[in-house]
Amino acid sequence: MNWNRVAILTLSDKGARGERVDESGPALSTWLANHGVTTVKALMIADEMDQITETLADWAELDIADLILTTGGTGLSPRDVTPEATMQAVDRLVPGLGELMRMESLKKTPMASLSRAVAGIKCRSLIINLPGSPKAALENLQAVWPAIGHGIDKIRGDQQDCAGQFDR
Ligand code: MTE
Repeated sequence: MNWNRVAILTLSDKGARGERVDESGPALSTWLANHGVTTVKALMIADEMDQITETLADWAELDIADLILTTGGTGLSPRDVTPEATMQAVDRLVPGLGELMRMESLKKTPMASLSRAVAGIKCRSLIINLPGSPKAALENLQAVWPAIGHGIDKIRGDQQDCAGQFDR
């Protein structure tokens, strides 16, 4: 694995007001540590579109992490704006990661369809939205985990031909 840095942005109005402890950020961080990835930054902010876009763009422009995960704010309530903020921040979308997360999550709950999570590339960072609960965040991360490493290699300039490398 040629990458090992993750930054985690937790979106929660209640959390930002100090009315809720961030459980998803630490759960993701622990799971990733067990898979060789170091959390270089973890932050919890309110569900504010501009602030989310700015934070994601700053982290990517400063190249603080190979992978940037968000957790929370992907659902249908009026304050859930993480996907819109992410779409503003990224240069290119990676729709397959959202499709894969929903496809795998549907095996666990029909509510999977209610996550509007997106993924995309900003500068040299891969940004992926995850839902807000620790369980949902981990399940979604695990769904895309097998594809993430190769994706990051490509973003970071691996010029090797993909053909045949990952056939089952
Ligand atoms: N995906 C998985 N794998 N497991 C879950 O429990 N919960 C769903 C969905 N995706 C869930 C999931 C629910 S209930 C919602 S409302 C949406 O994610 C959006 O979650 P968010 O608003 O916390 O981002």
